[in-house]
Amino acid sequence: MNENPRDENTLPRHPIRVVAERTGVSPTLLRAWERRYHVVDPGRSEGGQRLYSDADVERVFMLKRASEAGRTIGSIAELSNDELRRLPYFKRRAVEAIEGDSPSHAEGVTSVRQAILDYYRAEYPEVWQDSRELVEKGAATASQVFGRTVFPSMSTDWETHPNHIGHEQSPGCWRCHDDEMATADGEHVIPMDCENCHVFLVEDAPERPDLAELIAGL
Ligand code: HEC
Ligand code: HEC
Repeated sequence: MNENPRDENTLPRHPIRVVAERTGVSPTLLRAWERRYHVVDPGRSEGGQRLYSDADVERVFMLKRASEAGRTIGSIAELSNDELRRLPYFKRRAVEAIEGDSPSHAEGVTSVRQAILDYYRAEYPEVWQDSRELVEKGAATASQVFGRTVFPSMSTDWETHPNHIGHEQSPGCWRCHDDEMATADGEHVIPMDCENCHVFLVEDAPERPDLAELIAGL
């Protein structure tokens, strides 16, 4: 029997591939998150490979949900950063409302809006009094986000369809452009050459280049 469940939970034991399978966060993205944001600090096997605990896996999963929801909300929210700051916990509350179980699309559109209004009326009466318009705008925004992303009858939301623009959240165009998918005779692959899709203006520049100048030279 396990004597200390907490130790069990923080025991480094899952290789990165398992974390990827369980959370849907690719190894590349996870390493980038570790490098840039230090989201988790995995242990190492004797061979130097990353090993993650159950607690790490849980944390990565939560972060993925939060970042997807936050990104969706951030990218289409009509609220400015300044307005967002005036609505305490808006993003968190909006994510909770949008993630709540709605029996149908139509009902969700209404109930998400209502949930935001109820929240500020009950929890932040001074915000409700002084900034009613802003609360209404926040409620409308959350409702729109729900309307554009969550379709209960089709079981789709922002998690079922990853963002395929770029290669950070999903392989994006590399789903096919992987230098491996080939014609039946194996003669021709779908090319992954970066230059097919990108123009590299400069490589390995020792100093930050002047973008305007580079573009003018194209
Ligand atoms: C088949 C097309 C295609 C190929 C091939 C391709 N890319 Fe991309 N890449 C894209 C698109 C589309 C975006 C998103 C552009 C945007 O957001 O405006 C992107 C975005 C990026 C970004 C920005 C960060 C991100 O992931 O969103 C980087 C870095 C990048 N590519 C690097 C590369 C490198 C390195 C290669 C070669 C190994 C490559 N790409 C090959 C289409 C391609
Ligand atoms: C569903 C598979 C698939 C996806 C996803 C895909 N492509 Fe393609 N793409 C192809 C195929 C197949 C070709 C033809 C390759 C060939 O014949 O060399 C092609 C060709 C191209 C070409 C011409 C390349 C050349 O060498 O002439 C470009 C440019 C291109 N795709 C851009 C993109 C971009 C940008 C994206 C992502 C936004 C993307 N593709 C996503 C399948 C795909």
